[in-house]
Amino acid sequence: MLRELRADDLVELKRILAATEAFTPAEVDVAMELLEIVIKEPAQRDYEVAVAEALGKVAGYVLFGPVPATVGNFDLYWIAVDPAAQGTGVGQRLLEHVEAEVRKRSGRMVCLETSSQGGYSRTRSFYEKAGYLLESSIRDFYKPGDDRLTYVKRF
Ligand SMILES: CC(C)(COP(=O)(O)OP(=O)(O)OC[C@H]1O[C@@H](n2cnc3c(N)ncnc32)[C@H](O)[C@@H]1OP(=O)(O)O)[C@@H](O)C(=O)NCCC(=O)NCCS
Repeated sequence: MLRELRADDLVELKRILAATEAFTPAEVDVAMELLEIVIKEPAQRDYEVAVAEALGKVAGYVLFGPVPATVGNFDLYWIAVDPAAQGTGVGQRLLEHVEAEVRKRSGRMVCLETSSQGGYSRTRSFYEKAGYLLESSIRDFYKPGDDRLTYVKRF
């Protein structure tokens, strides 16, 4: 089940972000700042969140939004699923939600960024299986030996 973000989700989402072991503490802080903007500024339209629940518990979330100063381009800024719920289709459901919302608004494409490092190989295959294509990479972007990969799905 997917629903809107609530203020009382923040503690659990922070736990999930850390538990994935995919993000540095600084990245978790940035992810939390974006979630707090969504809670505190209900009129803003830059970021939108869907929270997934499984068996009555928060299982993950996605945060996405229109890329400023573009036409029909959306960014999938953040996605995370509780390790206890990974591999059960929650991530795929969250991606499908983003794509449905983007299509509803006549969006042309969704872009997302990820790392080239070995720990992200499962994340990359998750995106590839969902039809995202690797369209650009910047060598050593995050740190030496850690490239930034941009995946794109066009509609
Ligand atoms: C990437 C992530 C969001 C995927 O969510 P998920 O709920 O585990 O994914 P799903 O169960 O919906 O799986 C969808 C597809 O992903 C891939 N996948 C899932 N589990 C996998 C595994 N253990 N090994 C390899 N591929 C796997 C498969 O292609 C799967 O398709 P299938 O159902 O036909 O096997 C989740 O693993 C996660 O939170 N990872 C850590 C955070 C992260 O890396 N976020 C992205 C930062 S850029």
